[in-house]
Amino acid sequence: MSRLENKVALITGAASGIGHATARRFAEEGATVIGFDLNAAGEHWQDVVSLAVGSEFVTGDVTREADVVSTVEGVSKAHGRIDILVNAAGVSSYGDTTDVEEDEWDRVMNINLKGSFLFAKHAARVMLAQGSGSIVHIASVEGLLGLNGQISYGTSKGAVIQMTRNMAADFAKRGIRVNCVCPGAIETPLTAVLQDESMKPIKDQMVSAHLLGRFGEAIEIANAILFLASDEASFVTGHPLVVDGGWTAGSVLSV
Ligand SMILES: NC(=O)c1ccc[n+]([C@@H]2O[C@H](COP(=O)([O-])OP(=O)(O)OC[C@H]3O[C@@H](n4cnc5c(N)ncnc54)[C@H](O)[C@@H]3O)[C@@H](O)[C@H]2O)c1
Repeated sequence: MSRLENKVALITGAASGIGHATARRFAEEGATVIGFDLNAAGEHWQDVVSLAVGSEFVTGDVTREADVVSTVEGVSKAHGRIDILVNAAGVSSYGDTTDVEEDEWDRVMNINLKGSFLFAKHAARVMLAQGSGSIVHIASVEGLLGLNGQISYGTSKGAVIQMTRNMAADFAKRGIRVNCVCPGAIETPLTAVLQDESMKPIKDQMVSAHLLGRFGEAIEIANAILFLASDEASFVTGHPLVVDGGWTAGSVLSV
């Protein structure tokens, strides 16, 4: 039996990386998937549609409440319910406390934090009416660790972890579970900047920070999101699931 049979899942950031891998994985497990992204889906969305008939793609901006409301209303009208929300839209940002301009701080907080809040706010209203639902945000190990040069990104991800706990408490008695995943470094377009030869020293340090000695793949995060989103995680709420190849577990000393 498919793990998401008869479920309707709304996934932001679905045009790329972790969001797209999750859409594909959910479609394999029988969900009807509605992808949402600033960018058009591209040809690879056909994978999702061919696996899960009825899946659709909507373009919009997670920071615009009007886009969020019209998408949630459209899904609710077309499919009658929203069982799962995955908030995978996000952006990276570099710069330390004295470098980051106000506009950049606002951009990162708006996309990484406010966008996830807005989608959860409106999707949860549908979930409350139906009496069930599962929300998964994407935080980061950078919400757990303080890395230099990551003030806005790390702060946004720390806030996503706390928002997960607050939302879990808001909805605990009303049938909705809220969790997040905290990925380590994952091979997606978001980290493609590290492919540049000039970034090799940083990338090498990041690779060795993971006990497993490599970056993760988007599918490895999608599998963790699938668990949290599915009924298999029925006793899990308010939890930041760390999927980081051991980055936060410790370090290996050379002997
Ligand atoms: N790749 C990593 O190493 C890593 C590690 C930890 C956490 N994350 C988080 O995982 C999530 C997905 O990242 P990814 O690696 O798949 O990146 P990605 O760049 O491949 O995908 C992010 C998607 O979000 C979309 N997006 C950006 N701003 C948007 C907006 N305003 N409205 C709608 N869509 C918007 C982009 O168009 C893109 O398709 C992000 O929240 C990211 O912070 C990534």
